[in-house]
Amino acid sequence: MKSRTAIPDPVQYLKDDHARIATLISEVEKTREGDIERRRECFEKLREALVAHANAEEYALYPALAEKKETAELAAEAVEEHRLVSELLEQLGGMLLDTKEWSYKFKVLAGSVANHVEEEENEIFPKFEELLAPAEVDAVAEHMEKLMSTTEA
Ligand SMILES: [Fe+2]
Repeated sequence: MKSRTAIPDPVQYLKDDHARIATLISEVEKTREGDIERRRECFEKLREALVAHANAEEYALYPALAEKKETAELAAEAVEEHRLVSELLEQLGGMLLDTKEWSYKFKVLAGSVANHVEEEENEIFPKFEELLAPAEVDAVAEHMEKLMSTTEA
């Protein structure tokens, strides 16, 4: 496979990112209620990773799927799931971290992310690989790379 971009395979890139996000989630889960500083630090890292990931999908991957009639609905649903996750992130960011309420809400976030990842890896990504021509995949990869360089600046 050629690698004109830093992201030769967008699906693999997103899968690796999913694995990184799962690790960040378990790091937050391991923090104790008493150790707010550590919890805040892990949560902020997770939040950053989730926002960057959602951007890559919403601006590069889903638009390509929204153009195909077989996947338009899936893409629209996925965008709604992202919205839910970002609302939860916002709520968690504004709450006291050393409370049971925070832990419960974090569990809801972790569950929503896990469901969404499962749907993507089992349904959305295979369709993406099946329906898009190599040139379309390359265009998505280039778009993602551009998004990465603008968010990292
Ligand atoms: Fe994803």
